[in-house]
Amino acid sequence: MGGRTTSVLHMKGGNDESSYAKNSSIQEKVIVMTKPIRTRAIDDLFSNNPSSRTICIADLGCSSGPTSLLVTSELVETISRTRRRLALESQEIQVFLNDLPGNDFNTVFRLLQEKDNHDVPRCYYNGVPGSFYNRLFPIESLHFVHSSYSLHWLSQVPEGLENNKESIYLSSKCPSSVKEAYHKQFHNDFSMFLKHRAVELVPGGGMVLTMQGRTSTEIGNDGCVTNYELLAEAISDMVSEGHIQEQELHSFNIPYYNPTPNEISTLIQEEGSFIIDHLEPLELDWTDYNVYETPLDKNDGFFVMKSMRSAIEPMLLHHFDEGILDDMFSRYQNKIANCMAKEIPGVTHIIISLKKKTMESSASIQDH
Ligand SMILES: C[S@@+](CC[C@H](N)C(=O)[O-])C[C@H]1O[C@@H](n2cnc3c(N)ncnc32)[C@H](O)[C@@H]1O
Repeated sequence: MGGRTTSVLHMKGGNDESSYAKNSSIQEKVIVMTKPIRTRAIDDLFSNNPSSRTICIADLGCSSGPTSLLVTSELVETISRTRRRLALESQEIQVFLNDLPGNDFNTVFRLLQEKDNHDVPRCYYNGVPGSFYNRLFPIESLHFVHSSYSLHWLSQVPEGLENNKESIYLSSKCPSSVKEAYHKQFHNDFSMFLKHRAVELVPGGGMVLTMQGRTSTEIGNDGCVTNYELLAEAISDMVSEGHIQEQELHSFNIPYYNPTPNEISTLIQEEGSFIIDHLEPLELDWTDYNVYETPLDKNDGFFVMKSMRSAIEPMLLHHFDEGILDDMFSRYQNKIANCMAKEIPGVTHIIISLKKKTMESSASIQDH
């Protein structure tokens, strides 16, 4: 698979048992766990920037599940509470929900309709289709940007992966050219993301980002890498048995990258528009995919498989025949179960809280 992510990436829409909406338990846990970071960022935003009458906030990569409204409702509540505490006048809030054009925005808007519509302060919800690696909003129009579980998706499959034959992402066996190609693509994409948000945020505006990452510079056995290695093994088994053509495996690569905290902080400093308030890894493990939290199903890999399938099935359908997907994911589930029986890999997330520099903060940094 080559080309831009825009045309092939979206989570599985709708609301049925296989949808992203019903399989985003780990994403929900991450949102709950990162709430204190957002609360602190909003507190800071209004302590230093009290005057706006209309507050504009954006959730980038909102997808079609309940998580997006979970986070925007929380942000509205936090803004309202913070303004009351600081005795600032009430305001109206514009909420922008962004994702790629293939996203099931209809499901998001239906969820909005089901939600009680008596937000105080008054909120105006907007859908913004487009890639967050491009400009999405007018100059200095946003006060706060949030993005969870989205920035590990690249804008395209990196170029130069011809030698990545048996893997579909990075693996410990990958040649160094493949590692460099993934690193370079992430470098370009994340830098563009920062550059565009730096234009769109007001000076002093806040941004809280969470993405999958890794703590070691070596590509090893962390949960994210293992996930894709096991899927590649399932596909490879199907090649050996003649269900999939070898070339289909060799030409398939995932437009994904899980960076280290160090890579991220270097890119933020190189871009130069933001101050880092907070940057740290957060560890969960594969049992956090379990939506029902019953120990019964803990080790059979079912929930990890369902979550992965709801995220990458639309992309797989652009490359593989639909008829082989049940078999592929059933093999994948068995491999996950075997792996979980031995050890349960940790899934690293990186949480970043940034503040756009003001003229004063830029000057004081230069003075030091
Ligand atoms: C795993 S979902 C996360 C959704 C939600 N934020 C959550 O925490 O549950 C990742 C979302 O990012 C979106 N996405 C990926 N690349 C994007 C891009 N370049 N621009 C906008 N959205 C993007 C995907 O379409 C997908 O809906």
